[in-house]
Amino acid sequence: MNITVIGRGNIGGGLADLWERAGHQVTRLGHGGGDAGASEVVLLAVPGTVVEAALSSVTGLEGKTVLDATNRYGDARPPGGFFSNAEYVASVTGGPTAKAFNTNFASLFGQVAEARVRPSNLWSGDDETRSVVDRLSLDAGFDAVRLGDLSMAATQEGLAGTMFAIAQSGLGQFVYRMASPREL
Ligand SMILES: NC(=O)c1ccc[n+]([C@@H]2O[C@H](COP(=O)([O-])OP(=O)(O)OC[C@H]3O[C@@H](n4cnc5c(N)ncnc54)[C@H](OP(=O)(O)O)[C@@H]3O)[C@@H](O)[C@H]2O)c1
Repeated sequence: MNITVIGRGNIGGGLADLWERAGHQVTRLGHGGGDAGASEVVLLAVPGTVVEAALSSVTGLEGKTVLDATNRYGDARPPGGFFSNAEYVASVTGGPTAKAFNTNFASLFGQVAEARVRPSNLWSGDDETRSVVDRLSLDAGFDAVRLGDLSMAATQEGLAGTMFAIAQSGLGQFVYRMASPREL
């Protein structure tokens, strides 16, 4: 697939590396913005507080499928009065949108391929994004697990604090798997 990542740091750059290894073509954008018109899917991976600015610096987003990996911390609110950053993104692009890749630690991306079973990657979003989320999760080493439609994105954004609390309570950064008992 032809993918544009907006944000090329830990998450955007980390996933871009994994996806390129899986055969995808990835364009990496940062502060300077750029054009996403030629891409089939866009990953948004900028700090949660700059989503509005980051989207406004990129052209060609109309109707695009966007996977939003941003998190919000503390009392930071999504732009535009939306319940989640992902719903704001959808309002800007008018395209299929998913919240995905925000509940996995980028620092562990290099170890995921060695796991005994594939870790999970939670996502919530529009039905039309399912095949893209499934494919790009697998190509990064994860099984996608759906949390719900885009109205669940706010709940998923809120999980970041829980993930950090678990990591800081003794386990350190971790992967997780949600599966039926007969699979484990
Ligand atoms: N790190 C993780 O393990 C992790 C896990 C899950 C979710 N997340 C979420 O993913 C997002 C990115 O985290 P990260 O750790 O990858 O951050 P990071 O390493 O600091 O990278 C941030 C990226 O965002 C770009 N950026 C910053 N301000 C921008 C703006 N105004 N316009 C356009 N681009 C801008 C930067 O551009 P330049 O390259 O030009 O500096 C950089 O490429 C955050 O919302 C974070 O909460 C992170």
